[in-house]
Amino acid sequence: MKKIIIAIDGPAGSGKSTTAKIAAERLGYVYIDTGAMYRAVTLAWLRAKKELTEDILCKMLDGIHIELKPSENGQRTILNGEDVSDEIRTIEVTKNVSPVSAIGCVREKLVEMQRELGKNGAVVMDGRDIGTIVFPNAELKIFLIASAETRAQRRTLELKNKGIEESIEEIKKQIIERDRYDSSREISPLRKAYDAIEIDTSNLTIEGQVEKVVELALEKINLQ
Ligand code: CDP
Repeated sequence: MKKIIIAIDGPAGSGKSTTAKIAAERLGYVYIDTGAMYRAVTLAWLRAKKELTEDILCKMLDGIHIELKPSENGQRTILNGEDVSDEIRTIEVTKNVSPVSAIGCVREKLVEMQRELGKNGAVVMDGRDIGTIVFPNAELKIFLIASAETRAQRRTLELKNKGIEESIEEIKKQIIERDRYDSSREISPLRKAYDAIEIDTSNLTIEGQVEKVVELALEKINLQ
């Protein structure tokens, strides 16, 4: 069976990671969460307690080694040998990840890693620029959207389940701010590839959105 590349892009809380993870399991594909990589670089920068300048970040990059390891409870993110999968989801990392991700050398390094990870196909990769920059020739491109209200509700619940209490208004503000930043940056802004299929997940269940993606993927795989 042909092994295709499935790119899933979209704004925060649109359902990318949940959809990508389950769809990958169903297809027997590898799931790659590129946001986790940008979050790991952000964590390394926060720990260094340095200013956020392009110069500082670019110098730090040589000492930042990121690995993505599959495990029974999903993909683990390893930063210089340390499992930081939980720490990269803190509000502090989330608040700083967009400015770090807008820096050219950070994107160059991570895009190169992502291309290497996906080069043999059979991957579902989620992010902001997978269908536009990382794999512009991906066989299937999905762009997930949902209203800011729905996305904030989902994210608030997700954090609550992890024991983090944050008001929905605050989360909504952060999501809108991050979308604005990600969409307006100069390099690789968040945008829908011209040949991506847009799915609005506002009124879909997780099962519903996974079903759609798997169906589209099987169509493409069978066509190859
Ligand atoms: O899960 P959520 O949608 O909140 O975010 P994420 O996928 O973990 O990505 C975190 C941040 O990393 C985004 O807000 C972007 O600033 C950045 N990112 C990016 O620039 N390019 C990607 N391919 C993936 C993430």
